[in-house]
Amino acid sequence: MREQVFTTRITELLGIRHPILCGGLQWLADARYVAAVVNAGAMGFITCLSFPGDPERFRREVRLCRELTEGKPFGVSVSIGRRPDIVEILTPMLDVIVEEKVPFVETSGNNPGWLLPRLKDAGCTVIHKVPAVRYAVSAERLGVDAVTVISSEAGGHGGQYMVSQIVQGPLAADTLRVPLVLGGGMGDGRHLVSTLAMGADAMMLGSRMVVAEEIWAHGDYKNHVTQIDELGTRVVMSSFGKQHRVLANPTAQTVSEMEAAGVSDFNSYRGLLAGELVRNAYQGGDWSQGLIDMGPAGVFARRVEPVEAIIDSIIDQAVLALDSLKAATGQVCAQAVA
Ligand SMILES: Cc1cc2nc3c(=O)[nH]c(=O)nc-3n(C[C@H](O)[C@H](O)[C@H](O)COP(=O)(O)O)c2cc1C
Repeated sequence: MREQVFTTRITELLGIRHPILCGGLQWLADARYVAAVVNAGAMGFITCLSFPGDPERFRREVRLCRELTEGKPFGVSVSIGRRPDIVEILTPMLDVIVEEKVPFVETSGNNPGWLLPRLKDAGCTVIHKVPAVRYAVSAERLGVDAVTVISSEAGGHGGQYMVSQIVQGPLAADTLRVPLVLGGGMGDGRHLVSTLAMGADAMMLGSRMVVAEEIWAHGDYKNHVTQIDELGTRVVMSSFGKQHRVLANPTAQTVSEMEAAGVSDFNSYRGLLAGELVRNAYQGGDWSQGLIDMGPAGVFARRVEPVEAIIDSIIDQAVLALDSLKAATGQVCAQAVA
C-alpha cells in the first residue's frame, strides 16, 4: 500500500489513506471486493441489493467483510430506487446496517429523506450520490455528511441530465459546504489530481474496478472489459427519461433499435432489462446478454489485477501528474518574475 499523499476532508471523515471511493456495484461489490478496497487504503461499499430478499445473507457478508478488514471500517451502498415497494425491500437491509454498526453508508437513486434519520440516529456517516449539483444541494439541506456528484460518463444510472464532470466539478465545489466526491469517467491518477484541483475532496471509481481480481465475475467478462475502447459503452432508455450507460453489446443494440423505432410500451422492454440477465453474464462470462452497467472509464482497465495494484498505480500516476504540474508552474513563476 502506498504512503498517504493527500489529506482532504474525505480522508479525514472516513479515516482513509487515499481520497478514493469505490462506489456500489450491483451484484459485484461483495465482502471480498470491499475488504480489498479498504485494505488498499480507499473506501468501498457492499451493495446490499445484491442480496435481494435475503437480509441474513447480507448480514453474513457484512460480518465477513469485518473479518477480512480485521475490523477496519467499511461501507454499504443502498440504492433507493423508485419502486413502490422500496421501503419494504430496504427496511430489513437497514436493520442489518444498524444492528451490525456499519459506519459508512452510500445512498443513491432517490431522495434519502425517509431513511436518513434512522441511519444518523445509529451513528452512520451518510454519503449521498446524485447526478446533478441541484440534488446535492437538497441532500446537503437534508443533513447528509458528504455528497458524491456523478456525471454523464458514469456507468449505470447516471441520471437523466447527463452533465459532464468538467462542468459539475467546479460548480459543486463552489456551491456545497459538505465534503464533495466526484465520479464518472475516472480511472487514472490524473483524474485524482484534477478532481482535487476542481475543489473536490475525493474521486469515485466504478467501471475501472470491475476487472479487479477480487471481483467474483467470470474471466471472459473481465477480459472483454480490458479490450473495450472509448466507444465501448452506450446510453440506452433515454426515451423513457431513464438514461442507463451500459456495455455496448447485442442487448444494448436491440434496446437502442427499439427506441429508435419508437417502441414506447415499457413492457416490451422488460425481458431485456431483467437483472437476472446481468447476473448470468457475470456468472457465465457471456457479456453479450443483458444491460450491463459500464462507463467509458473501462478504457483505463487494461488488465485483470488486484485492487491494491490498481489503487497503488493511481496514486503513482497522481504523484507524477503533480510533478509535471510543479514543473509547469515553475516555468510560469520564472517567467512572471522575469
Ligand atoms: C457494474 C456497475 C454496477 C453499479 N451498480 C451500482 C449500484 O448498485 N448502486 C449505485 O449507487 N451505483 C452503482 N454503480 C455506479 C458506481 O457506484 C459509480 O457511481 C459509477 O460507476 C462511477 O462512474 P464510472 O463508472 O465512470 O467510474 C454501478 C456501476 C457499475 C459500473
